[in-house]
Amino acid sequence: MFKIGNVEIKNRVVLAPMAGVCNSAFRLTVKEFGAGLVCAEMVSDKGILFNNEKTLDMLYIDEREKPLSLQIFGGEKGTLVEAARFVDKNTNADIIDINMGCPVPKITKCDAGAKWLLDPNKIYDVVSAVVDAVEKPVTVKMRIGWDEHHIYAVENAQAVERAGGKAVAVHGRTRAQMYEGKADWNVIKQVKEAVKIPVIGNGDVQTPQDAKRMLEETGVDGVMIGRAALGNPWMIYRTVRYLETGELIPEPSVREKIDVCILHLDRLIALKNEHIAVKEMRKHAAWYLKGIRGNAKVRNAINECNTREELVSLLMNFVEEVEAKQNAQAV
Ligand SMILES: Cc1cc2nc3c(=O)[nH]c(=O)nc-3n(C[C@H](O)[C@H](O)[C@H](O)COP(=O)(O)O)c2cc1C
Repeated sequence: MFKIGNVEIKNRVVLAPMAGVCNSAFRLTVKEFGAGLVCAEMVSDKGILFNNEKTLDMLYIDEREKPLSLQIFGGEKGTLVEAARFVDKNTNADIIDINMGCPVPKITKCDAGAKWLLDPNKIYDVVSAVVDAVEKPVTVKMRIGWDEHHIYAVENAQAVERAGGKAVAVHGRTRAQMYEGKADWNVIKQVKEAVKIPVIGNGDVQTPQDAKRMLEETGVDGVMIGRAALGNPWMIYRTVRYLETGELIPEPSVREKIDVCILHLDRLIALKNEHIAVKEMRKHAAWYLKGIRGNAKVRNAINECNTREELVSLLMNFVEEVEAKQNAQAV
């Protein structure tokens, strides 16, 4: 257990924010698998201020997801402060997080995302302004630096702390690395040693054992899991259990996995509409099917489907096929 400001986080496993993935449908599903904290996908500060309908829809939070951290991004102090104020007053998020890690040029050329990492003084300035403007605790998610020549993770995290930020999440890659190479947990450890606020470590936690290793090697308060949770929300449950008891629970059966996939689909339909949800669910379904033998044909078919009925029937037929094969082998 740890605390971010006055928000209690019941265990040390955190779902990473992921654009296009971490909406309420996925977050609630992951929450039900035991995550201590779930993070929402990044939301544009300007989108909030211009009352963009799609952006405002992204602010929806189901009470059952809480505690939840809502992430905003932007490259200017004024708009970030205003967007944070809006989130503070008009949403039931528990924590306001500022994105200082997004590596995508479209974002960094507006001085947002990882661009902040080049200047600890600017970080201090913007975080202080946001902290002063809101009541909810403010946190920052950052990469370790811009590139290998500009790794200011320690200075940047200290700037967040001095400014009144209540936690930092550190992804152990530079902006230049994008998602390549290995996450540098050593820098995460240096950050943990340099600040008193909670530090959440992130990058390359693919298994429950990795999570334990990150906690032990870096001393961080929590581990943040991103890609390993895609189509794999039970990874969170397996990690929570492993950290608490040392027990490694087996993966669920194919039928159980598909049941979760359909639950996720139905939540996405309720959140958006059938047409959008089914299209969005194609990539998730492929993730849910990952690692299950003989999935190539069904994955291709899923990429063409447009309705819930089609998608569910493809998935259920596949489960039956897999189970028939398993039964034949067992005889
Ligand atoms: C599809 C995708 C979308 C992402 N979107 C965001 C985002 O909105 N905000 C953010 O701070 N990080 C985002 N990230 C980065 C992740 O939060 C995380 O830092 C990164 O994936 C490393 O962790 P992992 O090795 O556990 O995946 C995204 C990553 C992926 C794969």
